[in-house]
Amino acid sequence: MTPSYPKSKVFYRRLDKEFRRVVSAEGATIVDESGRRYLDASGGAMVANVGHGLEELAEVLAEAARLGFVSGAQFTHRYVEELAQELAEVLPESLQHSYFLASGSEAVEAAVKMARQYWVEKGRERKWKVISRVPSYHGNTLTALSLSSREHYRKIYGPLLNEFPSIPAPDTYRHPDSDASSGEVLEAAIQESDPETVAAFIAEPVIGSSAGAMVPRSDYYERTQEICRRHDVLYIADEVLCGMGRTGRWFAFEHFGVVPDILVLGKGLNGGLAPLSAVVAKLEIVEALARTSGYFNHAQTYSHTPVICAAGLATIRYLKRERLVERCDSMEKPFFERLQELRSFEVVGDIRGKGLLAGVEFVADRTTKEPMPRADRFAERFTSRAFDNGLIVWPNIGHVDGTRGDLVMLAPPFSVTPEEISEIVERFGQALE
Ligand SMILES: Cc1ncc(COP(=O)(O)O)c(C=O)c1O
Repeated sequence: MTPSYPKSKVFYRRLDKEFRRVVSAEGATIVDESGRRYLDASGGAMVANVGHGLEELAEVLAEAARLGFVSGAQFTHRYVEELAQELAEVLPESLQHSYFLASGSEAVEAAVKMARQYWVEKGRERKWKVISRVPSYHGNTLTALSLSSREHYRKIYGPLLNEFPSIPAPDTYRHPDSDASSGEVLEAAIQESDPETVAAFIAEPVIGSSAGAMVPRSDYYERTQEICRRHDVLYIADEVLCGMGRTGRWFAFEHFGVVPDILVLGKGLNGGLAPLSAVVAKLEIVEALARTSGYFNHAQTYSHTPVICAAGLATIRYLKRERLVERCDSMEKPFFERLQELRSFEVVGDIRGKGLLAGVEFVADRTTKEPMPRADRFAERFTSRAFDNGLIVWPNIGHVDGTRGDLVMLAPPFSVTPEEISEIVERFGQALE
């Protein structure tokens, strides 16, 4: 019997629903205790890039667990050293040093603090503001949430959040030729905020669930980076969702010919095995901190610890050995070609994305791109119908104006087969019907 609140003592993520109990998982398939099989087309929350249930990865974690807890304030060890080295080999030359944490939200908070510390060490004490975009999502801890425009997450926490400046995010579906889509809006936002007070601009190179895998124009990051450079503003690339191969390159910024000053990784970095995230800082920042304070003024108990780093090490070695990032790239074409079939449904307004990351946006009117009425709860109802039909997708709402906007994300494992892609499209269509 599936336990539920209040009988079970778990404080579930939803107290108003019954969660089915998972007993096994392999590749893109999850099996519940009744033997029912689910095709995981979103890697949970866009995490399980290498698929589920890889025994060899589990073994690396078990081996690291034998070390027990090793504090990053007292020692180093092979898992953290080898992971940083493996990452450095696929990172650009200017971006080599990784600081490891647990969740994506923590890493975003740390990236913001690192940007602030850098400017303080450089004698620019007035620089503290971080400009983010609308819509966006950078995490659920208070500063990360302050930088996120997710109205339904923020609503009741308003008094606890900080005010940061923001700009409209690029929207190549509804407003391809706007100043938001070219990146030009950043100039005015920095000017209005007083450039001497702006420390950083944070943006996901390919936008995750908050804008449904929106891929900005090819000139967007060159333009925004030029603006940042001119005003001494650091660019923090949040690649918690779109990094580690998800878009067909190791890092999504590679599609745009730019290199961020600070890179944030999470989710796919750890294969879903343990909470591991990273803040990768460019050499100039690391050197500035080394010369002055001698350290990044931030500490968390689990940073740099063996088991979480082992999750990253096992995952990155597996991605490299199986050439899965290359595979993700080569599957982009067949994946998106098959997804186009969903356009036969009038409610499908847009299908977009990169690599094996896709967003399917639902609209009330395809010609005017009018969003669905929020009262219909279309994304939620669709997701639930798909789930009952054995297909796991990830919904998002509110990207159009904070309230309206219905979409779902697809992010299958990089090992997804053409047959599984057909199955995803078929079940998606059935749920829509
Ligand atoms: C782009 C982005 N940044 C940060 C986060 C926060 O990561 P976490 O949920 O691991 O705290 C997420 C999570 O979905 C994300 O998509």
